[in-house]
Amino acid sequence: MLTKEIQHVKEESEKDFSSVDNPKELEELRIKYLGRNGILVQLFEELKKVPKEDKPAVGKNLNELRNLLTEKYNLLKTDLEKTDDTSEEKIDLTLPGTIRTIGSKHIIIQTLDEIKSIFKGMGFSVFEGPELESDYNNFEALNFPPNHPARDMQDTFFVSEKFLLRTHTSPVQIRVMERFKPPVRAIMPGVCYRNEAINPRSYCVFHQVEGLYIDTDVTFAELKGTLVSFAKQFYMDDLKYRFRPSFFPFTEPSAEMDITCFICKGKGCRICKNTGWIEILGCGMVDPNVFNYVGYDSEKYTGYAFGMGIERTALLKYGIDDIRKFYENDLRFLKQF
Ligand code: PHE
Repeated sequence: MLTKEIQHVKEESEKDFSSVDNPKELEELRIKYLGRNGILVQLFEELKKVPKEDKPAVGKNLNELRNLLTEKYNLLKTDLEKTDDTSEEKIDLTLPGTIRTIGSKHIIIQTLDEIKSIFKGMGFSVFEGPELESDYNNFEALNFPPNHPARDMQDTFFVSEKFLLRTHTSPVQIRVMERFKPPVRAIMPGVCYRNEAINPRSYCVFHQVEGLYIDTDVTFAELKGTLVSFAKQFYMDDLKYRFRPSFFPFTEPSAEMDITCFICKGKGCRICKNTGWIEILGCGMVDPNVFNYVGYDSEKYTGYAFGMGIERTALLKYGIDDIRKFYENDLRFLKQF
């Protein structure tokens, strides 16, 4: 009888121990089989009742079962402790964490974002055009005469006879006007290229933001109002401004806008070359010739356009002394913004 019982316990324990996977379960099995009131103790109790002649054989069986169970238990215990140890190591809360540096927007992009949001607030939408442009959009439709110096290889990166890297964002004006009927009110930010001698003040790559507003009866006064409002929001509230006559083939009349030097507040400093003024953009009323190129009725519509350089703007606003720093990607410089 007892021999059968021992065999049965052996089989049951095999099943039990094979499914253990954590210390709590193992402890429960220890109590069940090896505990003070466990199955083994009960079996030894019953051994006392076994007839004398059978005792050695049954006793031997029972001892084997005890050894087997103890061995299984010990093996599993060390096994589980091992896995427990390693999982503890994995989450050692006293170790310093990995510091991941988070990237940030380049100062030029931050400046562009700021300019965009000011103009969006005044009802302008945003359009972009390609950096590789046709000679037609970049020059011809903007009323540049065939012999204009900007059309020279010295100033412009030509890719082929008819294509070039755009020298300004003004060709996007042409793209917008060809696509939409008036009224049009948009700004057009983007990268431009010029074959310039590279020095602290100029680089071969730079960004511009172009602006365009076309409708019936748009006046120069509206151009001034919009740009003054922009400058006050972007630079400082209490600035003085002036519009100086200038020339661009695609605007007539044309002007350049100066504002009080915000470094010296107009007193005169190195940045404003002691004039107290800083030039921030070019602008003017869209030349009727341009309307003829894009198929707008130049008798019916008037409009203004403006364009500003972003690097220059950021240089001035943050007091940076060398335009090349924007393109060197030196983290010590970029991290300051
Ligand atoms: N495209 C001109 C430049 O690059 C700036 C400009 C834009 C002037 C729009 C007038 C109107 O200098």
